[in-house]
Amino acid sequence: MQTILITGVSDGIGRALAVQAAASGARVLGIGRRTFPASLAASMAPEDYCIADLGQAEAAAAIANFLRARQVTQLDILVHNAALGDYGAPAQQSRAAIDALLQVNLYTPIALTHALLPPLRRAHGLVAFVSSVHSALPTPDFAVYTATKAGLDGFARSLRLEEQGAVDVIVLWPGPTRTQLHAKSGVPPERIRSERYASPEEVAQAMLAAMQHRRSRAIGLSNRLLRWAAVHFEAQIDALLVKTAQRSTHTVR
Ligand SMILES: NC(=O)c1ccc[n+]([C@@H]2O[C@H](COP(=O)([O-])OP(=O)(O)OC[C@H]3O[C@@H](n4cnc5c(N)ncnc54)[C@H](OP(=O)(O)O)[C@@H]3O)[C@@H](O)[C@H]2O)c1
Repeated sequence: MQTILITGVSDGIGRALAVQAAASGARVLGIGRRTFPASLAASMAPEDYCIADLGQAEAAAAIANFLRARQVTQLDILVHNAALGDYGAPAQQSRAAIDALLQVNLYTPIALTHALLPPLRRAHGLVAFVSSVHSALPTPDFAVYTATKAGLDGFARSLRLEEQGAVDVIVLWPGPTRTQLHAKSGVPPERIRSERYASPEEVAQAMLAAMQHRRSRAIGLSNRLLRWAAVHFEAQIDALLVKTAQRSTHTVR
């Protein structure tokens, strides 16, 4: 039986990952900052749920202690899924909001990876970073969020080389998904196009398949094409977006 640790299982894609991983026979250990969600009662033991605020510097050490207390000495998969968003231009964001984004989305995944390398190495395990297809694109009003995801991409790229033969490292790049992330991030309701977004269940299913193949992957065909274009035609895409922004200068943000 595989043992999988997923951060941010209380909502959205993380919850769908936990439910589907458990359904496939894995033992799921979950991290969340709320009390044990009733929606996970059929998928994991309440004792395998660790309450931790990933915005706190000591979160990684607390999670490593939690695993030791549960006698989890081998970890097959670590999924860095939890993240925050914060809508708005960096100039309008508070220092505290920027710090929180960096802590939850970038610092804690790096610190937690560091803390859990021993149990991952024992299992020849896998670390999966949940990034965003937008990490390779300019994203006005989400610059800090996207910078944290680009940071994860860069960290994963180096870690993959450093851990080769011991731990596999992949990045998953989902596109817009029908979760509460946009509302929680303060995106104005009229800008949220939920009906066009993928469901968290289909995104989770594609992510778990990529994890089983140990392959980095943009989730969904359109996101694969978008990421390919973003990587290969960066200058052209930036120029196009500048023109579009100039045309909509009067749009209220
Ligand atoms: N939704 C999209 O359109 C989209 C697109 C691209 C990439 N992604 C990525 O996909 C991943 C999952 O996002 P989602 O859409 O499922 O968002 P979500 O529904 O808001 O879920 C995020 C999860 O992370 C948890 N979390 C946030 N801050 C935390 C903290 N300080 N301590 C502990 N847990 C914390 C949340 O807990 P609470 O329930 O307590 O807030 C929640 O369980 C993220 O990495 C996100 O960047 C999402």
